[in-house]
Amino acid sequence: MTDFLWAKSDQNARPDAALQRFLSGDDLQWDRFLFEFDIAASKAHAHGLQRIGILTVAESKSLSDSLEDLLAEFRSGKFLLQPPMEDAHSAIESWLSEKLGEVGKKIHAGRSRNDQVQVALRLYLRSALDRLRDVCRETARVFLNRASQTELTPMPGFTHLQRAVPSTIEMWLAAYAEAFIDAAELTTLTRRWLNASPLGTAAGYGVNLPLDREGVARELNFERLQINPIYVQNSRGQFEMQVLACLAQATLTLRRFAWDVSLFTCQEFDFVKLPSKFSTGSSLMPNKSNPDTIELLRAQHAVVQGSLSEVQSLLSLPAGYHRDLQLSKAATIRAIESSLLALGLVPELVKGLQFQTEQMRAAISPDMYATDVALDRVQRDGLPFRDAYRKPITPAELAARTPEQSVAARVSPGACNRLMLEELQQRLRATYTT
Ligand code: ARG
Repeated sequence: MTDFLWAKSDQNARPDAALQRFLSGDDLQWDRFLFEFDIAASKAHAHGLQRIGILTVAESKSLSDSLEDLLAEFRSGKFLLQPPMEDAHSAIESWLSEKLGEVGKKIHAGRSRNDQVQVALRLYLRSALDRLRDVCRETARVFLNRASQTELTPMPGFTHLQRAVPSTIEMWLAAYAEAFIDAAELTTLTRRWLNASPLGTAAGYGVNLPLDREGVARELNFERLQINPIYVQNSRGQFEMQVLACLAQATLTLRRFAWDVSLFTCQEFDFVKLPSKFSTGSSLMPNKSNPDTIELLRAQHAVVQGSLSEVQSLLSLPAGYHRDLQLSKAATIRAIESSLLALGLVPELVKGLQFQTEQMRAAISPDMYATDVALDRVQRDGLPFRDAYRKPITPAELAARTPEQSVAARVSPGACNRLMLEELQQRLRATYTT
């Protein structure tokens, strides 16, 4: 291997193997997720250097072409990011220097690994948000579709996990559709908020070169510059936190949904059966079919919460770059990649849920019509609500009712018989244009 990028003859003894392992940690593993973005940013940086006369057109072209080659080698598995390389950033520069000699050594003019890692991370986070928005939309679409297929299929509505009032499967499905539409919208807003280029701020104090930061930002499809170089470094981890917070909205909704399914598939409820591929058997008990997938989906939010708190804990730092920040990558990337994998399973799961409509209907007991009776007294007899509520309800009044009548009478906007699915469809469509 070529020597450390920062190695100079008169300074800094080389770290021994143990120290080197400590300094890199599992960094290389996470840098694989940043590698392609680092290459894109390196190309844009080379083009920018050419525009201000630091590189000739030919030099910039050979750097660009070589970066393309490196990308192809990385994708095909020919180039492996592995020890003793220090990190993705130095690996790219070393590779260019080996390929292109003098020209390769020119790429790092006006840049530091501090803004290099920031721009790679920003591009990674932006693309993670695109993936998150897509999966939230698809999940919302599937929930909405299923809610639209049937109408008014009664199931008990619970509060405090106690039977409350009759509800419908469609209302339950539409609740998750709306939550995922909102998650998609939040993702779009977060993407816009973080779509600012940190590149060209170097180590955190700018450089004595008239860098074309705007041009480089445009090439990388950033909407604007993140202007102040000190702020760029200070913001590391803070942008990650916001992305994780956005992810946490989606995984929290997923946790609630998985909880519901977990309860509803339990024999005591028996409201829902899972497609068999989402269940696993027991190693001991021949009779078992366990909803392991559902439980791991439920646990995913804990991973995001843990990562959020890990990143937050690292951010007790004064201004400027600090190597502590390196550790925020593992938490961020682990949470993002595992959550996107989890969320990606949800559409098919929702499509395959088999509702046990008879059991759901049978779980609606007559006492659950009590609120209907009280409100009928208000509407029909003009009683003040509190009096209608206190006046004893006879078994005969309850027995006269059916689940179907109860949910059909639920006409307040958003409720069982007025789910406003078209409005939700419209909101979902709007997430494609904003
Ligand atoms: N692996 C480092 C990180 O993630 C790259 C930046 C190193 N910068 C430095 N000045 N040592 O933070």
